[in-house]
Amino acid sequence: MEESIRQLSDQARAALEAATTEEELEAERRRFLGRKGLLREIRQGLKDLPEEDRPAVGKLINQTTRQLEALLEQRRQKLASGKAAFPEDRLDVTLPGRAPLIAGKHPLLATMEDMIEIFLGLGYLVAEGPEIEDYYHAFEALNYPEDHPAMDEQMTFYVEDDVLLRSQTSTVQIRVMEKQEPPVRVVVPGRCYRRDTVDATHCHTFYQLEGLLVDEGITFADLKGTLQAFAEGMFGPEVRVRFRPDFFPFTEPSAEFAVSCFICGGVGCRVCSGTGWLELGGAGMVDPNVLAGVGYDTERYTGFAFGVGIERFAMLRYGIKDIRVFYSGDMRVLTQF
Ligand code: DAH
Repeated sequence: MEESIRQLSDQARAALEAATTEEELEAERRRFLGRKGLLREIRQGLKDLPEEDRPAVGKLINQTTRQLEALLEQRRQKLASGKAAFPEDRLDVTLPGRAPLIAGKHPLLATMEDMIEIFLGLGYLVAEGPEIEDYYHAFEALNYPEDHPAMDEQMTFYVEDDVLLRSQTSTVQIRVMEKQEPPVRVVVPGRCYRRDTVDATHCHTFYQLEGLLVDEGITFADLKGTLQAFAEGMFGPEVRVRFRPDFFPFTEPSAEFAVSCFICGGVGCRVCSGTGWLELGGAGMVDPNVLAGVGYDTERYTGFAFGVGIERFAMLRYGIKDIRVFYSGDMRVLTQF
């Protein structure tokens, strides 16, 4: 009899320990300690024992009952405080949790969106085009001469003879103009590819924002005013814009444009290499050959276009010295912005 009391006690302990909810615990209490429980059943067997054995066995039953009640109470408190929902040796619920990563915008995307925002305010629409282009849209329609170095395999990635990864978003100008008559007013954000050796300021893959406006009576003065407004939107009202002659096959005249350094105000510092100016992109009046190529009346319409590198803006704006960090996927970089 003493043996079966001990067995019952072990069984009850295990059951109480294993209960993971208050309901389960109550069920086990009833099974072992309840009015019709197993301990009560054993106690009823006392009367069948010889008179002299009864006190010792009775004492053992009482002791067991008290111990189990104490354990029951302990378990109840634990469950109530939520701790025993998981067995302690398997999971430490007091460890700090893994905080979910909070999403943020990539600095390139944030910069691109800010640029686009300015042009939306000036009445432009956003257009996009394919990153894999054909020769016609990449070069021919943009008035490239037959032997221009950009067409060289050393400069551009070819998929096939006539198919390539676009090296600038100017290709999209053509696709937009093919589909509509003037007035055209678009900005084109997008990824481009060039065979550049990767270093702190160059990468084979990069982003541009291109702008195109075609309408009646558009002059170089409109281009200057537009880029001045853009620069002010990006760098503040103090900024000055500078144009210097340049060459692009698809604009005539063409210019390289720069803004006065927003760090030193144009005096000269490390960021602008002592020049006071930051070069941001290319621009010009759309070459009449390009307009004629898409069937526009060049006597009636003129237009301007410009293109800026988005990495360059983002590097200046966030003080990033190495272009490679944009594409590294390193969360220590990305979570700073
Ligand atoms: N696409 C030129 C480049 O990648 C920059 C540029 C863009 C010049 C648009 C332009 C233009 O004249 O209209 O270097």
